[in-house]
Amino acid sequence: MSSKADSALKAVINASELVTAHALKPKTGEALSDLGIIKNGAVVYQGDSIVDVGTTEEMLQKYQPSSLIDAGGRVVMPGFVDPHTHLVHMGSRHEEYECKIAGKSYADLHKIGGIRYTVAMTRAGTEEELFVKAMGDLDTMLIYGTTTVEAKSGYGLSKESELKLLRVASRLNKKHPIDVVSTFLGAHTVPEEFKDNKAGYVKLVHEMLVEAAPLAEFCDVWCDALGFTVDECREILADAKKLGLKLKLHVEQTGWTGGGELAGEVGAVSADHLDFLSAGGITSMRSGGVVGILLPGVTYHLMEFKKEIAVKAMIDGGMAVALATDYNPGTCRTQSMQAILETACRLYRMTYAQAINAATINAAFALERGDSVGSLAAGKRADIVIFNCTEHGVMINNFGINHVRTVIKNGAVVVDDGRLSRVN
Ligand code: NIG
Ligand code: FE
Repeated sequence: MSSKADSALKAVINASELVTAHALKPKTGEALSDLGIIKNGAVVYQGDSIVDVGTTEEMLQKYQPSSLIDAGGRVVMPGFVDPHTHLVHMGSRHEEYECKIAGKSYADLHKIGGIRYTVAMTRAGTEEELFVKAMGDLDTMLIYGTTTVEAKSGYGLSKESELKLLRVASRLNKKHPIDVVSTFLGAHTVPEEFKDNKAGYVKLVHEMLVEAAPLAEFCDVWCDALGFTVDECREILADAKKLGLKLKLHVEQTGWTGGGELAGEVGAVSADHLDFLSAGGITSMRSGGVVGILLPGVTYHLMEFKKEIAVKAMIDGGMAVALATDYNPGTCRTQSMQAILETACRLYRMTYAQAINAATINAAFALERGDSVGSLAAGKRADIVIFNCTEHGVMINNFGINHVRTVIKNGAVVVDDGRLSRVN
């Protein structure tokens, strides 16, 4: 029997599968197929931290929790970590999606609207309007089982507007149960007023970094023919690093530019998209310890991929891969990591286990939070989701619905019976 103050202990018991997903480093190769499942499992927690995991029998012999949540033979997993979103923005581009369905390319639309349309809408939005909209999106994410999310700026593209977006992200982190990790993406694209003066905008990004750095944890760049060159990105990232920011890149989204190779060279924490990643990019990212964040929702939305994306080569080549929504108005309009898991399995031919590890523990490592979230293990945050199914594969195979029953964030029930149970 535990000597702990058992009155403070809580537990989720009777999980048909307790998917622990635990690892001390990003899962690669064969390890990506191991979900660390405990059958008839239980997780014991105290305050916001996990105390122990094991079978229900073992845990109830060892501890006497004062409060029990009976999973009733359902699947229990760590909360999803969504490591790439453009959460803070205004407006909708659903009409553009219909143009894409009719055959227009992302590059065509980029010239007449695209990111710049969202920039105009976002600049016009007040801090309060942006905050309220993003709070609603975070509620949706929570209901769908996400407990940690990354949020990029990048729809401001002026000093004033970029700082506005970073302040909103910081307020969201304080106000919403979901942990919001902030990224500065001043180098998203060249704004309208600099369209004939790219060098001038790159200079402004360097200047913005100084004031953005205290408000962000990461700096991101869009390394792409529609964004910035490898050399421009290298210099922006070098400056960001000097200011103490950790690095992320959008790479090889609409074509190959060498961004994957750059990610390894600069020691980025992650490089994301990777639809056109080369063999050299795989080698560079693996040896640089860069997590590749795959965004199958974008691959699916853009309808432009001509070949099989090299996900098998990435995994077989020993590269760590994670999954994210890339939730944004232009290339992926879902807040649901469950939708992303299904899309990853279908488009990238990942197994259920690979996709779940990529959306939990590896996604946590893609935010340098692998030691605190993304798995169910002693010492980690009590971010726990109970799904309305008895086997994890059902949650992916039965797509387009929400399987989440209960979400526990930092030890508190925030979604109960599929509904938000908190008051902001
Ligand atoms: O991750 N590629 C750059 N940025 C976003 C899309 C932005 C937009 O189209 O609004 C992305 O896909
Ligand atoms: Fe993105």
